[in-house]
Amino acid sequence: MVLPSMRLDEKVVVITGAGSGIGKAVAIAAAEAGADCVPCELPGKISDLDDVCWQIENLGQRALPLPLSLPDLDSIDAMVDQASKEMGRIDILVNNAGINIPRDALEVSEEDWDSVMDVNLKGLFFMSQRAARRMMTNGGGKIVNIASQNGVIGYYKRAAYCSSKAGVVNLTRVLALEWADHQINVNTVGPTFILTPLTQSTFDDPVLREDLLSRIPLGRVGQPEDVVGAVVFLASPAADLITGHTLLVDGGWTAV
Ligand SMILES: NC(=O)c1ccc[n+]([C@@H]2O[C@H](COP(=O)([O-])OP(=O)(O)OC[C@H]3O[C@@H](n4cnc5c(N)ncnc54)[C@H](O)[C@@H]3O)[C@@H](O)[C@H]2O)c1
Repeated sequence: MVLPSMRLDEKVVVITGAGSGIGKAVAIAAAEAGADCVPCELPGKISDLDDVCWQIENLGQRALPLPLSLPDLDSIDAMVDQASKEMGRIDILVNNAGINIPRDALEVSEEDWDSVMDVNLKGLFFMSQRAARRMMTNGGGKIVNIASQNGVIGYYKRAAYCSSKAGVVNLTRVLALEWADHQINVNTVGPTFILTPLTQSTFDDPVLREDLLSRIPLGRVGQPEDVVGAVVFLASPAADLITGHTLLVDGGWTAV
């Protein structure tokens, strides 16, 4: 047998922002791959996890829904403590939670900038730091960040968003280097525009939708399910020698 496994049997996976969109699809895919899951969501939206937990349990895996408010360090520590205590360990972290405030660069306020950076970059960093400390006591682990193709290219009305995602792409390299000795792989997935609650208003605008489609050589908008294969792959034993990498799931956008 030469083909390495893409299964996640007996692994515990923490997924941030798992109540909707890409995070929800990743949690279900991880359960399909055999993992027990800790889907996390903002405290005010914890009931958004009901359906994903039901689906995880229907697949025969354990689901532990937990509140998480990035980048609050007390909230991160409380989540990591409870996940470790109740599930025994954290093997895989999927840093999926993220926000966007689309606005022309000239109109971006300090509050807009800080909000996007706080969740997408600061929150992701401290979430990774806290989870990595646990992984180190357990022989290693895998961290998969959800950045965006907008981490390697620019797009209109996304000054803070593109900057935050570019930060994630390079942070991935630093953490991969620093934590390699601890057998923690750190990689990133960079999706193109995917139809989720985050992008619904973008796709509702016919001009924007046409512009996006014209830039995707494969000629269609992505669905959350298009992203999960890359995430499960990078979380699996098949990616044991891959670290510091950003895998684009962009329909060919950046190949042009
Ligand atoms: N949809 C796209 O086109 C697209 C493309 C590339 C990358 N991404 C990235 O994928 C990730 C998921 O996006 P999505 O489209 O599924 O969006 P979404 O809005 O459907 O899901 C994001 C989730 O993150 C949670 N969240 C938001 N702020 C949080 C905070 N402060 N603390 C904890 N959780 C928080 C939300 O409640 C939500 O459940 C994001 O990081 C996004 O930037 C999305």
